[in-house]
Order: sequence, then C-alpha cells, then structure tokens
Amino acid sequence: MLHVLDHPLAAHVITHLRDKTTRPATFRTLCYQITLLLAIEATRDLPTEPKAIETPMEPMTGRVLTHQPLVIVPILRAGLGMMQPFLDIFPDVSVGYIGLERDHTTAIARSYYSKLPPVAGRRVLVIDPMLATGGSAVKAIDVVRAAGATDIALVSIVSSPEGVAEVAQHHPALVIYTAALDRCLNAKKYILPGLGDFGDRLYGT
Ligand code: PRP
Ligand code: URA
Repeated sequence: MLHVLDHPLAAHVITHLRDKTTRPATFRTLCYQITLLLAIEATRDLPTEPKAIETPMEPMTGRVLTHQPLVIVPILRAGLGMMQPFLDIFPDVSVGYIGLERDHTTAIARSYYSKLPPVAGRRVLVIDPMLATGGSAVKAIDVVRAAGATDIALVSIVSSPEGVAEVAQHHPALVIYTAALDRCLNAKKYILPGLGDFGDRLYGT
C-alpha cells in the first residue's frame, strides 16, 4: 500500500530538493525537513500506554510511547541522511544498518553490510530516500524479515511506479510512505523527474 505525503510544506521542500542548483548544505537541511514530516506520518499508529502524572493543576492519566517501540534501518549510504529526524523525535529508537550499492551498469543492488538490533515485536522502518527499481528496498526488507520482524514499513522521499510495484509484488502487505510518486525510470534506472543521485547530492560526491 502506498501512502503519499500530502502537505503544502512537503511540496515546498521537495521542489527545492529537486532543484539542481540546490547545494549539499541546503540539500541536507531540506532532507531533514522532509524526513521529519514523513517520520510523523509513518509513526501515527505506534503503540502508547497510560501514564499517571500530576500537572500543576491536578492529577491526570496521559499516554506515552511504549518502551522502545521503534527500529529504523537506513540503507547506506543515502539513507543515513534521513536518520537524524528520527533520533531527534524518538529518544528510544534503535538503529540497524544495511549496506547496499547499485551497480552503475546493471542497477542491481549488491549487499556489503548488515547489522541489526533485535527486531521481533517492534515496528521497523526501513529508510531510503530513493525507491527506483525497488531492488534495494526488496533486498533490505528481506533481510529485516529474515531477522524476525513482522511489522515493517518503508519510508522513501521519491518513489517510482516501477519501484512501488516491485515492493508490492514481493511484500504485498507492506506500507510505503513517500513524499512524491514520480513519473517513471529512465534507461539508466534513474527516477524522472526525480532529483538525480541522492547520495551524491547529499555528500557532494
Ligand atoms: C540509491 C538509493 C537507493 C537505491 C535505489 O543508492 O539511495 O538505495 O539507489 O535504487 P533501486 O530502487 O533501483 O535499488 P545507491 O545504490 O546509489 O547507493 P548510495 O546510497 O551509496 O549512493
Ligand atoms: N538512486 C538515486 O539516488 N536516484 C535515482 O534516481 C535512482 C536511484
């Protein structure tokens, strides 16, 4: 299932992210902002539990997040750019890492690293800014699922119809949160209109 972020601020930020004149320092700030909006959207149904407190006026029972409900798994390298907003708003978040790199000729993702915290019984958000062919996302979700996770969602900034279809074919029940659903892939499997190579723009490479 696809969930496209619908917010005027998201439209504003993503337009500046796409702009080829946007330099890496600004690109990183915009990446933070759009990811913060996505993080809020993707965690709407996190579990909470009651907590008795006293306000300066009287006792009451509020609600707080269940202890350590959330795991994020950035796909290296570009996914690292989406990590900080989650760390800032979810103090108990755990972080796993999956290293994948697309071959420049075939666009097939090669796995080079994986380190995950315990994932069973927790909400796992795989985070990667670009969902192009879907090869990287499917590989990462496979890894997380093999580690015992059952509650998994994918958070991307720009998605292609091809990538959404690929994820849906392999993981039909999984929700994808994205800020933009673009037109298609080009012959080199880059997203159109897209924003180019996210990792290169993020890190100035
Ligand atoms: C980019 C992006 C995704 C992947 C998407 O990473 O960050 O991980 O491509 O493409 P796909 O859906 O066709 O698999 P890349 O492989 O360029 O590595 P990087 O993050 O190290 O730049
Ligand atoms: N990876 C990117 O960084 N950009 C694309 O358009 C496709 C894959």
